[in-house]
Amino acid sequence: MTIDTTEDLFVTGLKHAYYTEQRLVDALEELEETSSSEQLQDGFAKHREETQTQIDRIEQVFEQLDAEAEAEEDPVIEGMIEAHEDFMSRDPSEEAINRFNIAAGQKAEHYEIATYGTLVPMADQLGMDDAADTLEETLREEQDELDTLSEMGEEFDYGELEA
Ligand SMILES: [Fe+2]
Repeated sequence: MTIDTTEDLFVTGLKHAYYTEQRLVDALEELEETSSSEQLQDGFAKHREETQTQIDRIEQVFEQLDAEAEAEEDPVIEGMIEAHEDFMSRDPSEEAINRFNIAAGQKAEHYEIATYGTLVPMADQLGMDDAADTLEETLREEQDELDTLSEMGEEFDYGELEA
């Protein structure tokens, strides 16, 4: 399909976001299971639930477009998942995994904020006010999650790692 209208761009972005959120449901479970910190486990579990809701929201937007909800593979999120698998294969210590997982979460949130930060103004431009509002709710959740993770990163006790 050629992409030359704002609507094409919007729909393409929406398909990538749909794919990313679906992959993140599993990725967040992996982050939860590999973290030994309870605070981190709870945080990833909570965001995993939010991610399910975010998937529902994207489906609502497809409906508003009168289009079938469709995912299109996003190589960016695949790369992030691969980076995590690669890290885990290097026999990291528990604390190293915790710190890596915080950063992995932060990277995913930055990416999603860029995605929704682009989709919201495009929906506005297309006169899709409901879609813009729906996606803005997700954007706010991603920003809150980034703030939470950034705080955990700042408070991380490097004394737990071997010198
Ligand atoms: Fe998300």
